Amino acid sequence: MIGELKIPAHIGIIMDGNGRWAKVQGKPRVFGHKAGMDAIERTAIYAQKLGVKLLTVYAFSTENWSRPLDEVKFIMSLPIDFYGRFVPVLNKENIQIRMIGNREGVPKATLKAIDKAAEDTAANTGMILNFAMNYGGRAEVVEAVKKIVASGISPDQISEETISDHLETAIFPKDWRDPELIIRTSGEMRLSNFLTWQSAYSELVFTDTLWPDFDEISLDQAISEYSGRDRRFGGVKA
Ligand code: FPP
Repeated sequence: MIGELKIPAHIGIIMDGNGRWAKVQGKPRVFGHKAGMDAIERTAIYAQKLGVKLLTVYAFSTENWSRPLDEVKFIMSLPIDFYGRFVPVLNKENIQIRMIGNREGVPKATLKAIDKAAEDTAANTGMILNFAMNYGGRAEVVEAVKKIVASGISPDQISEETISDHLETAIFPKDWRDPELIIRTSGEMRLSNFLTWQSAYSELVFTDTLWPDFDEISLDQAISEYSGRDRRFGGVKA
């Protein structure tokens, strides 16, 4: 179905609904997060097949620390579990791993697993699967401002590009830093501090599908909706 469609270079996903999915099955919330990992795996593999260059998934926000301790601990343990199961698959698929977000506060073992996954997939040349982990969009802008001030640059030299170059997404090529498409699952319609600067002109697609149920068809549908949008960036139609 995807034949004539525009494929975004960068897609961001707010993976929501794991808890509700588990509840429907009569299982604890963490069961939903585990199923959410499988959804990440199949979505990443399919996104790369479609030609997506960068897939940023919102794995843990700076606000998620307020969840019950057991749930936070479980989510933090996922990259460790993920490493063993997922890295061989990523290497077979030629996908690279990266992380953005504040490393401070993330348990050492979690960081070690993410860093090792990034290192062990660094030679891959395909799509980048970027985990936004302990990430908050406003905090990212604050950190960028601090770096810019510390660099001593004069105020009249500061442009939008200066800000973009000091955000965590500056590790990615300029053309893909800002996602053309952001998908949020589970029917919620907000951005929740995700890629705050980068989302200025993103197309937003909301689906009622709960994240653990998200699959290839769901991604096709989201891209199809994106493809039908008329992106004018504040201009008028030619
Ligand atoms: C939202 O569902 C999901 C999260 C806050 C966590 C999502 C995380 C993963 C799928 C895996 C994370 C991966 C790594 C590598 C850490 P929710 O719990 O808010 O669901 P609800 O809205 O139904 O309660």
